[in-house]
Amino acid sequence: MRKSPVTESPAGTSPAGTSPAGAGPAANPVTSGTNPVAGPVISPVTGPGAPEPATATPVFSVEGLWKVFGPKSDRVPGSDLAELPAAELRERTGCTAAVRDVSFDVRKGEVFVVMGLSGSGKSTLVRCLTRLIEPTSGTVAIDGEDILSMDRSRLRELRRHRAAMVFQHFGLLPHRTVVDNVAYGLEIQGMGRAERRAKAAEVVTKVGLEGMEDRKPGQLSGGQQQRVGLARALAVDPEVLLFDEPFSALDPLIRRDMQEEVIRLHREEGRTMIFITHDLNEALRLGDRIALMRDGRIVQLGTPEEIVGAPADDYVRDFVRDVPREQVLTVRSAMRPPSGGEAESGPALAPGATVSEAIEAVARTGGPVRVVDAGRCLGVVDHEGLLSVVAGVPVGKAAA
Ligand SMILES: Nc1ncnc2c1ncn2[C@@H]1O[C@H](COP(=O)(O)OP(=O)(O)OP(=O)(O)O)[C@@H](O)[C@H]1O
Ligand SMILES: [Mg+2]
Repeated sequence: MRKSPVTESPAGTSPAGTSPAGAGPAANPVTSGTNPVAGPVISPVTGPGAPEPATATPVFSVEGLWKVFGPKSDRVPGSDLAELPAAELRERTGCTAAVRDVSFDVRKGEVFVVMGLSGSGKSTLVRCLTRLIEPTSGTVAIDGEDILSMDRSRLRELRRHRAAMVFQHFGLLPHRTVVDNVAYGLEIQGMGRAERRAKAAEVVTKVGLEGMEDRKPGQLSGGQQQRVGLARALAVDPEVLLFDEPFSALDPLIRRDMQEEVIRLHREEGRTMIFITHDLNEALRLGDRIALMRDGRIVQLGTPEEIVGAPADDYVRDFVRDVPREQVLTVRSAMRPPSGGEAESGPALAPGATVSEAIEAVARTGGPVRVVDAGRCLGVVDHEGLLSVVAGVPVGKAAA
């Protein structure tokens, strides 16, 4: 998970050299004025639970995965048929290639977003991870263990304990109370009544439904019902949470609330999450990394900043065209080398600060602001560099 500018260089605990000698936090308007909670419209997820480095064993490791629906589907992957456009493939074989040769890793502790338009293969892909849908070919592993060779009881264990799913339509049991819905997964695991109700009550509180324990789902709003769905998944304490468009049925304000809830839970627990959405803003807000799908393929896999700052092709460029770049790109993309004594003193931002936060900082101080990481000055941002980023033109020659 990316860190916020504040956690990396908070006011008063700035790395050596961040503030002028002898100056208190108040003398550093930049770091003290940056507030990730009341941040810009699209603020990155922030918190201490940083994902593991790419070298650690991934939670999920997917290699050359295909899912083809239809008759004799296994002849499609790797053949000439696989190259056909969807309509022609369907006409000639009766098959639909929902996932085509997809490979990626999900790192421990990250929020991995799968984004794409309707029908691009998101749900199929994520269901293949726990074999709710059987892949046609390729490999899937969880913590290095091959999922495709798991027997039924091992698969059951995987779905009950290790990878819990939150669905768009909640999937609640209408005749059970909130607390019994939340306890459902624990009941299936064979936990005793008193113990599972105690555990469920704890999770109900965690998702903000205290006082509603004895209501039935029909007596809750859509947002509250989704909180129950979330609590039910959390109750089994899974290693990874899978979300399939959980908030798309909610109205925008409640949706925003639920996104904040996911961000908060992730920040507090550092749990690995795979989150499907067709909403770009949601993807940018929640994702440490985003896999952008089109017609069953991943067309780009990267951080929000990489996807917005360096789209892989025209399709992605078109997809992100209306994104306010300054709210996604960080000061790293606007920096120039320091000149004169610029590196030594003056206000500072962390490298994770957005261009938008830097604009505010530069406007407030009236001059260049340093980008400081662990006491080291990486560069300087000024009016010109920031404007270049917003305009989408290369940061100018003044950088030399
Ligand atoms: N059981 C099935 N049999 C045949 N085709 C299927 C089946 N399930 C999905 N498909 C097809 O596979 C493709 C991908 O579907 P999928 O549900 O994965 O898309 P999605 O990205 O999740 O879309 P949405 O955003 O609408 O949920 C679609 O063309 C769909 O029609
Ligand atoms: Mg879907």
